[in-house]
Amino acid sequence: MAKQDRSVLIVGASRGLGLGLARAFLARGWDVTATTRGEAPALAALSPVAPALARVDIDDDVSVARLHADLAGARFDVVFVVAGIADGAHVPLPQGDRATALKVYETNAVSPIRFAETFADRVAPGGLMVLMSSVLGSVSLNESGGWESYRASKAALNTLARSFSIRHGDAPFGTVLMHPGWVRTDMGGPEADIDVATSADGMVAVVEGQLGRRGCAYLDYRGETVAW
Ligand SMILES: NC(=O)c1ccc[n+]([C@@H]2O[C@H](COP(=O)([O-])OP(=O)(O)OC[C@H]3O[C@@H](n4cnc5c(N)ncnc54)[C@H](OP(=O)(O)O)[C@@H]3O)[C@@H](O)[C@H]2O)c1
Repeated sequence: MAKQDRSVLIVGASRGLGLGLARAFLARGWDVTATTRGEAPALAALSPVAPALARVDIDDDVSVARLHADLAGARFDVVFVVAGIADGAHVPLPQGDRATALKVYETNAVSPIRFAETFADRVAPGGLMVLMSSVLGSVSLNESGGWESYRASKAALNTLARSFSIRHGDAPFGTVLMHPGWVRTDMGGPEADIDVATSADGMVAVVEGQLGRRGCAYLDYRGETVAW
């Protein structure tokens, strides 16, 4: 497959890692379709090649169904669900309110998997369904605590992604759970380890290396396997 023949749908690209991924995929010659919930001037201003733009809120099934219909003729080598939230991340679960914890579970675990299920028929043979996880979703690596609802939501995403991969075991695509590193975004904060470009460039290289593979991998932006 020639590089310029590759296409990616990036879900949640208004800012942060999604925006960085759009820039990085475009720079490597991919055809990019990028979604936002609202206006996204930074995404629209990407040059010299602009992404195709679309709208979706992954928590809204009607919105997801509309996007699926709008992209009826499209097939993507990669569908990359980036969208996520970290509301109430610094509040221990017992002290936080139920609604916030449930919203984090909905947006970070339920909605990405429902999106993946809807768009499984849009992944080209040899392609990948990529879901943005986190090392914080690793149960075995949780030796410091903190970020309780967020951790739980990403651990749930990991478990649901494995079930998604098993459910689609006969399908001609693989599933990747991605840890982007600790990255300086609105969510990651200014003290994070790496910048968006370092993370995004790494993730694009990892994705390119995984094309054609099946099963469910849990990888970081350097291509290293993360422990479950
Ligand atoms: N930054 C890190 O260090 C880090 C580390 C590990 C994992 N991650 C994961 O990486 C992903 C991106 O994080 P980030 O750091 O780039 O965060 P961010 O700067 O806060 O950006 C979050 C993105 O998700 C979108 N989004 C949120 N809820 C959505 C929904 N219901 N439907 C559609 N889009 C929605 C936002 O859109 P709006 O602009 O409309 O709000 C925004 O584009 C998340 O899944 C996060 O958990 C980040």
